[in-house]
Amino acid sequence: MTAAGHLLAAGIGAQGPILFSRFMEVALYHPEHGYYRRARREQGADPFGMHGDFYTATQLQPVFGRLIAAQCAHWQQQLGAGEAFHVVEWGAGRGEMAEHLSSFRYSAVDVDGGEVPAAFEGVIFCNELFDALPVEAVRVCRREARMMRVGLSDGRFVWVEGEPLTGPWLPYAVNLCARIAEIREEEEVWLELPVGLESLLARMTRPLTRGFVLAIDYGYTEREIIRFPRGTLMAYRRHQALDDVLLNPGEQDITAHVPFTHLEHCAQALGLLTTPLRSLTQLLMSAGEADQFAGALAAPDDAAALRLRMQLKSLLFGLGETFRCLVMEKRSG
Ligand SMILES: C[S@@+](CC[C@H](N)C(=O)[O-])C[C@H]1O[C@@H](n2cnc3c(N)ncnc32)[C@H](O)[C@@H]1O
Repeated sequence: MTAAGHLLAAGIGAQGPILFSRFMEVALYHPEHGYYRRARREQGADPFGMHGDFYTATQLQPVFGRLIAAQCAHWQQQLGAGEAFHVVEWGAGRGEMAEHLSSFRYSAVDVDGGEVPAAFEGVIFCNELFDALPVEAVRVCRREARMMRVGLSDGRFVWVEGEPLTGPWLPYAVNLCARIAEIREEEEVWLELPVGLESLLARMTRPLTRGFVLAIDYGYTEREIIRFPRGTLMAYRRHQALDDVLLNPGEQDITAHVPFTHLEHCAQALGLLTTPLRSLTQLLMSAGEADQFAGALAAPDDAAALRLRMQLKSLLFGLGETFRCLVMEKRSG
């Protein structure tokens, strides 16, 4: 069993089956044994890139960084913010955007810390942050929604049916289920509850006096939930997507697709304006169109130019079609 697994097993031994959000929190973020925390310390535990478990758009540098910088510069001009303009990246991972956003005042934040200005105008940027937040798992069977907990059986983590879902998340689950049931006669439906999303968005946007939040992630709108009757929890290890999210805690990534309609509602509840969801391709096309991608593709020689064109192609026709961008705006006053 993994080190995080031993901790989780001890907790289950003491208290009985635990909520999935607790399992995910320890598996990903335990200060010593969590998947993202180990990555900072242990050789060979880096989750990103070819030798890790998955790629993100952030690894497609310099093209991704240059296009996001061009988008930020556009917003800087729109705000007329001059030098006071600050870009804060949340969930910065390996910090690969730093070089490309260094023409602005730039701060990187991740679970281990990072400085956020007490008050700033500018942009909050996050790429694949919200899909990495702990969620609750719920199973709905014959119209009854129950929390799914994690227990232990023969030394393996297993799903255990928990208490009926009550409280403010019940209408959320009922609404999503109704959308699935309208079209499908599924025996049972699995859903995730994004329990930490609103409080994180509130924390992120509190110091922003004026400006934009750009969230890039994969996910679904309320109408698209029909595509996910078994939920969206997924684990990643060595570039393979795995269904068993309870296996090897601390040694594989665990994600849940981002519920974009809920993210929009959270933003609106916090007083932010939202613009319609766009694909990452659409955002990058508009960021690059002013100079026909000349800045993004600037290269010292032909070999480098070819590499950058391949990166742009991967971004626009690969990742860009899967990933969505939600832009949220905070206006002053
Ligand atoms: C899937 S990785 C993406 C990293 C990077 N943005 C990229 O595109 O490669 C998610 C990152 O979000 C960070 N993260 C998760 N929860 C966070 C939180 N509450 N505050 C700051 N960072 C967080 C994780 O530690 C991890 O580095």
